[in-house]
Amino acid sequence: MKGLITTAGLVLFSLALPQDTALKDLMPKGMVIGVAINQRQFDGTDTAAVALITKQFNQISPENVLKFQPIHPAADRYAFEAADQYVQFGVDRHMQVIGHNLVWHSQTGAWVFQGADGKPADRDTLLARMRDHIRTVVGRYKGKIHGWDVVNEAIEEDGSLRKSPWQVGIGDDYVAKAFEFAHEADPDAELYYNDFNLEKSAKRAGVIKLVKDLQARKLRIDGIGNQAHWRLETPAIDDIDASLVELSATGLKVMYTELDINLLPNTPRGADPAAANPYANGLPDDVQQQLARRYADVFGVFLKHRAAVTRITFWGLSDADSWLNRGRMNYPLLWDRQRQPKPAFNAVVNALRSTK
Ligand code: XIL
Repeated sequence: MKGLITTAGLVLFSLALPQDTALKDLMPKGMVIGVAINQRQFDGTDTAAVALITKQFNQISPENVLKFQPIHPAADRYAFEAADQYVQFGVDRHMQVIGHNLVWHSQTGAWVFQGADGKPADRDTLLARMRDHIRTVVGRYKGKIHGWDVVNEAIEEDGSLRKSPWQVGIGDDYVAKAFEFAHEADPDAELYYNDFNLEKSAKRAGVIKLVKDLQARKLRIDGIGNQAHWRLETPAIDDIDASLVELSATGLKVMYTELDINLLPNTPRGADPAAANPYANGLPDDVQQQLARRYADVFGVFLKHRAAVTRITFWGLSDADSWLNRGRMNYPLLWDRQRQPKPAFNAVVNALRSTK
C-alpha cells in the first residue's frame, strides 16, 4: 500500500497494513534485514515477539548476551547458556547470526584490566586475556556466527583513538591484535569495526584511518558498522548519504547495525518530567508521521546505495523492547508496545517496494 497524498500534498502513511508483509521478502539482493534480540525472545518466552521476528527478519544480533561481561564474567569462568540459545535461535531459522562484540571499553568486567597488587594489567597480560576470550568465544560458534563486531567504539569524536583500558594497557595496536585473534579463531567469519556518529566528519576520518591501517597490515576486515542511533532531525539526511559513500570507498561493506530513531529530548537528570518525558501518554499523530517520514528518508538513502549496503539491523523489535526507554516512554522502532506495526513500518515497506 502506498502512502496517501492528501489535498495539502502531504504523504500520510496509513495504519492499516496487515502484518502479512514481511520486510525480509522485500529486501534487495545482497542486503539482509535484522533485529537485536533479548533473552525472552531467544529463549522463546515472549511468543508474540518470536513469531514476529521469525516472520519479518533474516538476521539477528545479540542485544547483550555475547558481550564480554555476560559471557566471560570471571577469568576462569565462561557463561555460555544464554549465548548458545541466541545462536541456536538463529540457526534454527536459517538466519544470519551476528556476534556483538569482542573488544569494547563497556560491559567488560573490571577483572579484565586488573593486574597483580591492584595495579593495572600489563600489555602481555591483557593480550593473553584478549586472545583467550576471542579464541574461546569465536571458536565456540565457528561456522554458526556469520560475522563479528571485533572492536566496538574505539574512536573519539575528534577522530583520535579512544584511551580505553585496552588502549592504555596494550597500546594502539590492540585493535590490530583483536582482528588478528578473531581471524585465527574462525578464518571464515566476517570481521567488522562498529561505531556511532560516523556521520560526523572528524570521527569518520578517524575510523577510515583505523580501517586503512588494518588493511595496510593485511588483516582481515570485511565491513564497517554504523550503529545508527539517530534522531528525527539529526544527523541530516545528506550527511548520512555522504558518510555512506565515503565509508564505502574503503572497499568495505557498509552496515547499519543498531538502527533506531530516538524521539525524546536530551534532557539533564532531574529535568521537569513534562519536558523530559513528553509522550508519557502516547505519541501525537504528527510526531508519528514525522517518524514514518524519517524512516522513509533513511531507507531511501540505504536503497539508493544498495550495492554498498549489506545489512540493516534494528536495535530492538518493538517500542516496548527498546533500550531507549530507560524510565521514559520512547517510540523509536517500527512496532508499537502491542507489537502492532506503526506508520513507520508502512513507510519502510513502501520504500522497499518502490525499489523492487
Ligand atoms: C545497549 C543495550 O541495548 C542495553 O540493553 C544495555 O544496557 C547497554 O547496551 N552501542 C552498542 C550496543 O554497541 O551494544 C548498546 O546496547 C547500545 C549502544
